Amino acid sequence: MSTAKLILDGKEYEFPVVVGSEGEVGIDIAKLRDVTGAITLDEGYGNTGSCRSAITFIDGDRGILRYRGYPIEELARHATFVEVAYLLIYGKLPNATELARWREQLATNSLIHESMKHFFEGCSHVAHPMAVLSSMVTMLSACHPHEEPENIVRLLAKAPTLAAFSYKKSVGQPFVYPRTDLSYTENFLNMLFSLPTGPYEIPKVLDQALNLLLILHADHEQNCSTSTVRMVGSGHVSLFATIAAGICALWGPRHGGANQEVIEMLELIARDGGNYRKYVDLAKEKGSGFRLMGFGHRVYKNFDPRAKILKKAADAVLEKLGVEDPLLEIAKNLEKVALEDEFFIERKLYPNVDFYSGIIYRAMGIPTNMFTVMFALGRLPGWISQWKEARDGGARISRPRQIYIGETQRPYVPLAERA
Ligand code: ACO
Repeated sequence: MSTAKLILDGKEYEFPVVVGSEGEVGIDIAKLRDVTGAITLDEGYGNTGSCRSAITFIDGDRGILRYRGYPIEELARHATFVEVAYLLIYGKLPNATELARWREQLATNSLIHESMKHFFEGCSHVAHPMAVLSSMVTMLSACHPHEEPENIVRLLAKAPTLAAFSYKKSVGQPFVYPRTDLSYTENFLNMLFSLPTGPYEIPKVLDQALNLLLILHADHEQNCSTSTVRMVGSGHVSLFATIAAGICALWGPRHGGANQEVIEMLELIARDGGNYRKYVDLAKEKGSGFRLMGFGHRVYKNFDPRAKILKKAADAVLEKLGVEDPLLEIAKNLEKVALEDEFFIERKLYPNVDFYSGIIYRAMGIPTNMFTVMFALGRLPGWISQWKEARDGGARISRPRQIYIGETQRPYVPLAERA
């Protein structure tokens, strides 16, 4: 086994080196504090491996993403989201019997407890669907208070119902109950778009696009929301509360919330006469506080393979749906100008998964404030698999340390003596 040497205050220490199955190298510093008294400092965790994981592999320099060894491009082309969910959670592609059973479990668990409707009724109709979804996922622990393996399938099965109900609540339409005769994605589209006023035929192109989007979102190793899931789960709170924390982490505009921000940015540019160059320049101005949403990634420094697939899919889906969206043109122009610009080249800033996903969701008729909910539905199997891997592996409670930079000890000042 190779080792890494550290010299601190003239004293030399050796630490084991861990090598992953794809040759990734990590220095195991678990004993660092015990033997040296020092800790590492890595704000934003850019260089910190928080776990060993067998779920997702990313090579950001080469634009590679694989779930359980399978390239994302192959899964996107051949698999359904339900198969990918099984693959992520249980580590293998399901055979025909396993898949049939899995589908059946997901279908039969899709109803939520009738009393949960009251929670929806209590929500304001202007509440963001992410606020509603995260709260409702937490509330599932009220209906299923015990920790049981069935909670995995319950959560995956009920999440589309909760997401669709949160949408129906926001537009003031009656809730549509789940149907067990439809596939996972068809059922979700039906709960989202059908109305009591008439039949709803699920367009095949919507179902295919939804499968693709959910597969591309399904896992992405130790990102902000997944690390949140591992951290919250490490305290052994319920699966539902753990995943609700992940949903909240995803909501941020620098993370999954970027898909909503991208469309709002493109709309802003469209209202401003389509002057995308102005916004590329603005993003380069440090003091402007403006960033090109859907651009940049902590890990991908060449291209985001998900964005590449989605750019192609955006053209195909819009064409099949007969939708002409001026925002797609603006997005493409924005991408072209940015990719030729020294500022973006130097910093290796490329479109990420959120850049084109919003265009497709929009063409599908999904409102902007639901985009991050869609992302959460896709990410669900990834979060569950990461939570399960950590729990099955007996992970310790996550408890980072810090370098304290505040006041040193000082005496308490009585109120009358304070400045
Ligand atoms: N537009 C303009 N400049 C950018 C952008 C952007 N979108 N992203 C990064 N930069 C610049 C930064 O200003 C910084 O410049 P500097 O070195 O001169 O100071 C440099 O590029 C590095 O940026 P950091 O913020 O240090 O990169 P980090 O890895 O911490 O952040 C992040 C990554 C959050 C994704 C960032 O690129 C960003 O804010 N992008 C826009 C939001 C977005 O699309 N998020 C979705 C990411 S994908 C996902 O989470 C699902």
